[in-house]
Amino acid sequence: VAPSPPFITPHFSRKAVTDNPEPLPHATKKRTHTMPPTPTTPAATGAGAAAAVTPEHAWPRRMVRFNPRSDRFHTLSFHHVEFWCADAASAAGRFAFALGAPLAARSDLSTGNSVHASQLLRSGNLAFLFTAPYANGCDAATASLPSFSADAARRFSADHGLAVRSIALRVADAAEAFRASVDGGARPAFSPVDLGRGFGFAEVELYGDVVLRFVSHPDGTDVPFLPGFEGVSNPGAVDYGLTRFDHVVGNVPELASAAAYVAGFTGFHEFAEFTTEDVGTAESGLNSMVLANNSEGVLLPLNEPVHGTKRRSQIQTFLEHHGGPGVQHIAVASSDVLRTLREMRARSAMGGFDFLPPPLPKYYEGVRRIAGDVLSEAQIKECQELGVLVDRDDQGVLLQIFTKPVGDR
Ligand SMILES: [Fe+2]
Repeated sequence: VAPSPPFITPHFSRKAVTDNPEPLPHATKKRTHTMPPTPTTPAATGAGAAAAVTPEHAWPRRMVRFNPRSDRFHTLSFHHVEFWCADAASAAGRFAFALGAPLAARSDLSTGNSVHASQLLRSGNLAFLFTAPYANGCDAATASLPSFSADAARRFSADHGLAVRSIALRVADAAEAFRASVDGGARPAFSPVDLGRGFGFAEVELYGDVVLRFVSHPDGTDVPFLPGFEGVSNPGAVDYGLTRFDHVVGNVPELASAAAYVAGFTGFHEFAEFTTEDVGTAESGLNSMVLANNSEGVLLPLNEPVHGTKRRSQIQTFLEHHGGPGVQHIAVASSDVLRTLREMRARSAMGGFDFLPPPLPKYYEGVRRIAGDVLSEAQIKECQELGVLVDRDDQGVLLQIFTKPVGDR
């Protein structure tokens, strides 16, 4: 899609979200993660695909960015995101087909694990793990995920349906990250263990039943995922171009306390800059804050509902249907979002993911005004055909689209 070699940036958008979004022609944006329009079905975890192209000149110029580099421990990147589910093969199969992320590793009965069935999907640096409990009476020593609890997983699935249990970060030292986090006020979830082969592993509570998992390992390891997992080769698998996680968003009842907790133990800074005027929350029904690590490659946005607005807050709807706080959406980056979308849309009706309805045609007149110097007319037409949203700020042009909720709740 890019006229010059593409680079990926986190995505930005205005805070207010409407059903028929209009690009903002002037600098009233608060830099934040992008929210999907209010869904017409109960909120559940969704996925956005995003790609950015280099601008020829910065626009707008009034943004102020500040990075205090205040991390309490060294975080390198997202490592994986784990869903707890009732049947890992079924959930993983659907995501693999929908996202073009083939099975890359597994730990289950076939590898001698009688505690949990886990399947790992990969596309580029994107790694989705799906884990389900086996029946009671298994040999606990065979589990490859030491923190796994079959009872907790059953409760989790009953309470939340298919949902994210762990957001895993690759850190320099998992034990050190755990210690620094607990010193900074984190509630421990699983004390550090050495998994062997140089792998460290620990967990702290994040929000609701979601944990932040720390994984450390040597560079250039030949372990396919974590020790205990066996690699799966898929020579014929199709990749749709998805490359990595961009951000993973949590919905919480109260932003201030949740953000203070997470920022307090991670040291992550607020990844947002206010310009001359903030965009009102009257329409969006939410307040949002993005927490970022030093390198700003790990973004953890948080949303809270705002009550008393014209339309019911989609965050409140999520909290009720999901059964409390949880991961609302996952943004995944693509090197070529139009290609990725063609691949994904081709599978929507056959068990893949479906997308939110496209904006009205007049939206793309605005796109020509704000991004006509970066995107060709053919690219803008393709964005319109595929329903891609276009935003621009001082760091580039962002192309993105939102799936409909990918689960029931
Ligand atoms: Fe987002």
